[in-house]
Amino acid sequence: MKEQLENIYNSAKSDIEKAQSISDIDEIRLKYLSRKGEFNSIKKGLKDLSDEDKRTVGALANKITQDLEEMLREKHDIFYQKELNEKLQKDRIDITLDGKYFHQGRIHPLTETTNEIVSIFQNLGFSVVAPELSPEVETEYYNFDMLNVPKEHPARDVQDTFYVKDMPGVVLRSQTSGAQIHVMENQKPPIKVISPGRVYRNENINARKNNFFHQIEGLYVDKDITFGDLKGVLNEFIRLYFGSARPTRFRSSFFPFTEPSAEVDVQCIMCQGKGCRICSGTGWLEILGSGMVHENVLRGVGIDPDVYSGFAFGMGVERLAMLKYAIDDIRLFFNNDKRFLEQF
Ligand code: DAH
Repeated sequence: MKEQLENIYNSAKSDIEKAQSISDIDEIRLKYLSRKGEFNSIKKGLKDLSDEDKRTVGALANKITQDLEEMLREKHDIFYQKELNEKLQKDRIDITLDGKYFHQGRIHPLTETTNEIVSIFQNLGFSVVAPELSPEVETEYYNFDMLNVPKEHPARDVQDTFYVKDMPGVVLRSQTSGAQIHVMENQKPPIKVISPGRVYRNENINARKNNFFHQIEGLYVDKDITFGDLKGVLNEFIRLYFGSARPTRFRSSFFPFTEPSAEVDVQCIMCQGKGCRICSGTGWLEILGSGMVHENVLRGVGIDPDVYSGFAFGMGVERLAMLKYAIDDIRLFFNNDKRFLEQF
C-alpha cells in the first residue's frame, strides 16, 4: 500500500511539474486530492490494515497529501501571478491616447435672435400666436385681400410673390401680417400678440436679400389704443434689444393695412449717427414697419373701428440680427458654415 501511495505521489508530482496553467492545476487537484480522487480511494483501504500499519501508512498518506497540496498551491500562485500580469498588460488603459471629441450642437443665431425678441415682447404682455393661425402656405385672401392690399398692388406680382403651382389663390406667404387676420377672426379684443415665422419672396439672392427670411409680427387691439402706445412699446423694445438708450426715429410711411403708418429707425450702431457705409451715410438704420390698424382691416374681421383701435408692426429677424452682431451678408445664416455658426 505504501508502494501504491508512492507511485501515485510520483505521478502526481510529475503532473504538477508539467502543469502549464491554473486550469491544469485545478485538474490535477481534482484527479488526486478530491473526494473521488486517487488518494481517497486508497485511504479507504486503511481500515483493513493492522493498527501499526494504519499509523505508518496513514501518516505517510497525510504527509504526501500535504506535500502535494503545498506544491499545488505554490504552482497555483506562480500561474496566478503570471496570468494576472498578462491580463493587466493586455487590458492596460493608455492614458496618453487622445479622448474622443464630441461635437456639441448649438442654437442657430436666428433662433436665438427670435427667442430674444419674443421674450422681450412677452415681458411687455404679448403672447405668441398658435402656429395653426400663422401658416406659411397661405391664401391670397389672408396674405393680401384681408390686409387691404389692392388687387393691382405690385407686391402680388409673381415677380415678388411665390404662387403655388396649379393652386389658384395659394401663395407662400410674403409677410407674417396674415397672422393678424387669423387671430382677429378667432379672438375678440383685447388682443395682444406676436407671431414669428418664415416668409418667402422671389428675390435675386445677394448679400442683403434671400428668397426666404423671417419676420416677427405684432398686433395690439383694444379700446383706446393710440399711436402713443405704439411709440411707447416699440421704443421700449428697441431699448431692450439694442441695450443702451439709442435714439429712435418714427418716419411717416405707407402700408395698405395701417393708417397712419411709420417706419422706425434706430441710430446707426456702427457710426453712432455720423454716417457710414452701413447706414448709407444717413446715420439711421430702418428696423421695422408699423402703424395703426387700418379701419378696413378691423371691419373685415368684424371688429367695430368706432369702438376698438389697434397698432401693428412687423420686423425682419435677419436684419435685426445683422445689425446687432455686425453681420454683413444674409447668406451666412443659411449656408451652414460652422466657422460662422460657432461664433454664437
Ligand atoms: N408686413 C410688412 C412687410 O412685410 C411689415 C409691416 C409693416 C407689418 C407695418 C406690420 C405693419 O404689421 O403694421 O414689410
